[in-house]
Amino acid sequence: MADDPYRMTDQVDEEMLGMMISRLEERGRDARFAGMIDDYLRAVSIDKAKEVLDLGCGTGVVARKIASLPDFQGRVTGIDLSPALIAEARERARAEGCAEKLRFDTGDIRALGVEDSRFDVTILHTLVSHLEDPAAALAEAARVTTPGGAIVVFDGDYASSTLETADPDRAAEIDLAMIEATVTQPRVMRRLPRMAKAAGLKVERCFSYLIAEAGRPDFFAGLLDSIGPMLVSAGVASEDAAAAIADDLRAAAADGTFFGACNYYGYVLRKG
Ligand SMILES: C[S@@+](CC[C@H](N)C(=O)[O-])C[C@H]1O[C@@H](n2cnc3c(N)ncnc32)[C@H](O)[C@@H]1O
Repeated sequence: MADDPYRMTDQVDEEMLGMMISRLEERGRDARFAGMIDDYLRAVSIDKAKEVLDLGCGTGVVARKIASLPDFQGRVTGIDLSPALIAEARERARAEGCAEKLRFDTGDIRALGVEDSRFDVTILHTLVSHLEDPAAALAEAARVTTPGGAIVVFDGDYASSTLETADPDRAAEIDLAMIEATVTQPRVMRRLPRMAKAAGLKVERCFSYLIAEAGRPDFFAGLLDSIGPMLVSAGVASEDAAAAIADDLRAAAADGTFFGACNYYGYVLRKG
C-alpha cells in the first residue's frame, strides 16, 4: 500500500500540510464542489439537525459551511486526525465569525471515544477513500449516530480519475501512480451499498457527479503543484519522474491542452 499522505496527516511535514490546506480550501470554494455539498445537506434537512458530526473534517470546509447557514441552530463537531488541521479549522472558524456553533477536536476514527447515538447527522466528506478500513469507519459512524439519523458519505470514485499526460502509451500507468499517491481506496464508493448493508444502514439517496475539465483546468489546477510532491511522498515515483509528470501537466494547462476528470458520489444512509 502506498503512503497516501491524507491517511497520515499526523506525520506529514509542514510543506505537505501547507499544500493540503490550500487544496482543501480551494476545492471547498469551487462552485461545483460546493453544490455537491449543498445537495446532501438539503437531503438530510441540515437546518433541523441539533448535533452534527463532521468526521475527518480537515480545515473544516463542511463544518464551517453548516455553521454559517442562517437557519442552522444546532452545533457541529469536527474531528480530525491532524492537530495542525484542527488548529487551522479553529482559526478559520474564528476569522469567519462562525466559531460559536462549532467545536473542533483532534481524534482518530479508529478509536473515537464518543458515546453511542450522540449525533443526528454524521458526515464523512472525502474521508473513506483515505482509510485502511472504511467498513470499520462506517460502522463507527453508524454507532455514534442516533437511530433514525443520517450518515452522509461523500467521496471521489478515484478509480475513474484521470489527468492525461503527453505519452498515450504511459497514460494508464501514470494515472495509476497518481491514484496510488493520493488515495488508499480508489473503488470504495462502488462498495458503499454493500458496506452500508453490513453496517445496518439503508441507502436513502445516491447523488452522482462528474467533474471534467478540458483546455484549462480550474478545479484540478490546485493539483498541479501538489501532485509531484505527493507522488514522491507516497513512494510511487522518483523525484525526477514526479517532476516530469507535474511539468507535463503544467505545460498542458498553460497551452490549453489539459484534460482531467473524476466521478464523485454522495450517499445519504439512514440508521434504522
Ligand atoms: C481529503 S481530507 C478531507 C478533509 C475535509 N473533510 C474536506 O473535504 O475538506 C481527509 C481528511 O481525513 C483525515 N483523516 C485521515 N485519517 C483519519 C482518521 N483515521 N481519523 C480521523 N481523520 C482522519 C485527514 O487528516 C484529512 O483531514
